[in-house]
Amino acid sequence: MLKRFSISLDEKLLDQFDNYIRPRGYSNRSEAVRDLIRKALVSEEWQQDGEVVGVVTIVYNHHQPQLQEKITELQHRYHHQITSTTHVHMENHHCLEVTIVKGRASQVRELAEQLIALRGVKDGNLAMSSTGGHLH
Ligand code: NI
Repeated sequence: MLKRFSISLDEKLLDQFDNYIRPRGYSNRSEAVRDLIRKALVSEEWQQDGEVVGVVTIVYNHHQPQLQEKITELQHRYHHQITSTTHVHMENHHCLEVTIVKGRASQVRELAEQLIALRGVKDGNLAMSSTGGHLH
């Protein structure tokens, strides 16, 4: 059920909000506000160590000694938190690996941090997501 409520904002803040949402393709303020609220709830779930989902992306040089083994070892150690992994051979030296993760925020973050910190990983990122409404 859709409920309505009104928001009072000073003019300057409203201008800033409109300038923020326009280039992002929002056709109205309501959808933009909904997305911001959901984003806050997702962030809250991560902070409260809730059940979350995420994507860990790493780019690495596969010639780096021992790196593939260390990645595989970590993925096995955290197999309960891993849904799937996709590996892409980028060119002669580099690989992109995307790991979809799910579970307690603290454990998912722990895995992501360890993967990203491995020597030879050139870029790493954890995209934090969730339903914002408590997964079980
Ligand atoms: Ni590769």
